[in-house]
Amino acid sequence: MPALHLENLIKRYERSGNEALKSISFSIGEGQIVALIGPSGAGKSTLIRCVNRLVEPTTGKVRWGDLDLVSLNSSDLRKTRRRIGMIFQEFALVDRLSVMENVLSGRLGYVGFWQSFMRNYPQKDIDAAFALLDRVGLSAFADRRADNLSGGQRQRVGIARALMQEPDLLLVDEPTASLDPKTSRQIMRLIAELCRERKLTAIVNIHDVPLAKMFADRVIGLRDGRVVFDGKPDELNNEALTSIYGEEDWEDAGQRALMKFVHAGEGGPQLDQERVLGLR
Ligand SMILES: Nc1ncnc2c1ncn2[C@@H]1O[C@H](COP(=O)(O)OP(=O)(O)O)[C@@H](O)[C@H]1O
Ligand SMILES: [Mg+2]
Repeated sequence: MPALHLENLIKRYERSGNEALKSISFSIGEGQIVALIGPSGAGKSTLIRCVNRLVEPTTGKVRWGDLDLVSLNSSDLRKTRRRIGMIFQEFALVDRLSVMENVLSGRLGYVGFWQSFMRNYPQKDIDAAFALLDRVGLSAFADRRADNLSGGQRQRVGIARALMQEPDLLLVDEPTASLDPKTSRQIMRLIAELCRERKLTAIVNIHDVPLAKMFADRVIGLRDGRVVFDGKPDELNNEALTSIYGEEDWEDAGQRALMKFVHAGEGGPQLDQERVLGLR
C-alpha cells in the first residue's frame, strides 16, 4: 500500500474563478489516518475529490506509489478508482435496493455490467458482503430496504460498500455531518477501527474537532485553500484552532459548517458514486 504525496496541488474552479486550493503539498504515510479540518469553504471536499479526480485539479501532482493520479488516462483512472474507497456525508445509497444489494454495488467496478445487471455476483463477493455486514453490525439487516434504516445504519452500509472495493486508500467526506453526536462517535470509531484492521490510508474530512482529535493519527487544518496546521491531535491547541478557524469561537464555526454543507462535486452524490466505483 503506497504512500500518498500531494505536490503543489492547485484547483481553480473555472466558472467562478475561485481558487479553492492554493498550492497544497503534503505526504501521508501508509496506514495513516489523517483528519482534514477547517471551516466551511476551506477546500476540504475539493482536496479529497482532487485525489480521485471527481474534481479535476488545475495543476500539481497526486503521487500514489508509482502513479501520478493527475496524469492518468481515463481507463487507468477507472481502474485506479476501484482501489480508492469513498464514504460520503449523505451516504449515497440506492434507497429502493436492499442493504445487501447496496453493499454488493461496491463490486460494480470489478464485475461486468451484465453480471451486475442480472444481479449475478460471484459467491465470493456475496460471502464477503455478509462478512462485512456482520463487521459493521448489520447482519440482521441484509434484506432490509436501504430507505428503511436510521442514519447511523445507512452510514454503516456506506462503509461496508466502500470496503467491498477492497480499497487501499479511503476518502471520507464529513461522514458524521448528518448524525447525532453519539452515533457520530460510533461511526468514526468504526471507520478508524476498520482502517487500522485493514491498514488503510485514510483522509477524513470532518468539521467536528473533538472527534478528529479522538480518532486521527494526524490533523491537517485548511483555511482558505491553504494548509495552516499539520500536526498530532494533541498539538491542536487553541492557538492552532484560531489559525484554522480565525478569531471567532471555533466551536461556533464547526456548527456553522454543519449547517451549511457545500457540495464540491460537479454532479450529485449518485453521479459521484459511479465514478468512485470506477464505472465512469
Ligand atoms: N463546483 C464548484 N464550482 C465553483 N466553486 C466551488 C465548487 N465547489 C466548491 N467551490 C468553492 O470552492 C471553495 C472550497 O469549497 P469546498 O471544497 O466545498 O470546501 P469545504 O469542503 O471545506 O467546505 C469554496 O469557496 C466553494 O464555494
Ligand atoms: Mg465539504
